[in-house]
Amino acid sequence: MNGPNLNLLGSREPEVYGYDTLDDIKGRCEALGSELGFQVDFRQSNSEGEMVNWIQEARTDHAGIIINPAAYSHTSIAILDSLLASEIPIIEVHLSNIHQRESYRQHSYVSKAAKGVICGLGAQGYDLAMRAMAQLLEKK
Ligand code: DQA
Repeated sequence: MNGPNLNLLGSREPEVYGYDTLDDIKGRCEALGSELGFQVDFRQSNSEGEMVNWIQEARTDHAGIIINPAAYSHTSIAILDSLLASEIPIIEVHLSNIHQRESYRQHSYVSKAAKGVICGLGAQGYDLAMRAMAQLLEKK
C-alpha cells in the first residue's frame, strides 16, 4: 500500500526517490509475488481516510501489509491505529533514508506497528519487504 504523492514516482524528485515509476514497482512486486507464491494487491492513495479503510479491510482478507505511508508516516495516528488493530504482519518501506533527511521525516508513527522497517534502498526495498513477508508468513 502506497501513500500520497507516490503516484508521481519517476518524475517526483528523482534524485531522492529514483527513476522507477510506481507502475514499474507494481510490475516487479507482482512478478516476485508469483515467484514467492502469493497474490499481490498493489494500491496507492492520496487520501488518509481511504488508506485507513483499506487497512481495516485487509484485516479480514489479506495475509500481511507492506506499506509505504509516505508523508502520513510522519503525521498519521489514524493510520497507526488502524495498523495496530489489523493483527496481520506489517512491514514499512521508504525509498529514501528518512533518518538522513529533514528532522520532520525522521520519526514515523507507523513504525510502532511494523514488524520491520526498510528504508534508503530505493525501489529494491519493496522486493526485500516481500521476501521478508514471505518468511514471516511461512513461520506463522
Ligand atoms: C517516503 C519518505 C517520506 O518522508 C515522504 O513524504 C514520501 C516518501 C519514501 O519513500 O522515502 O512521500 O515515504
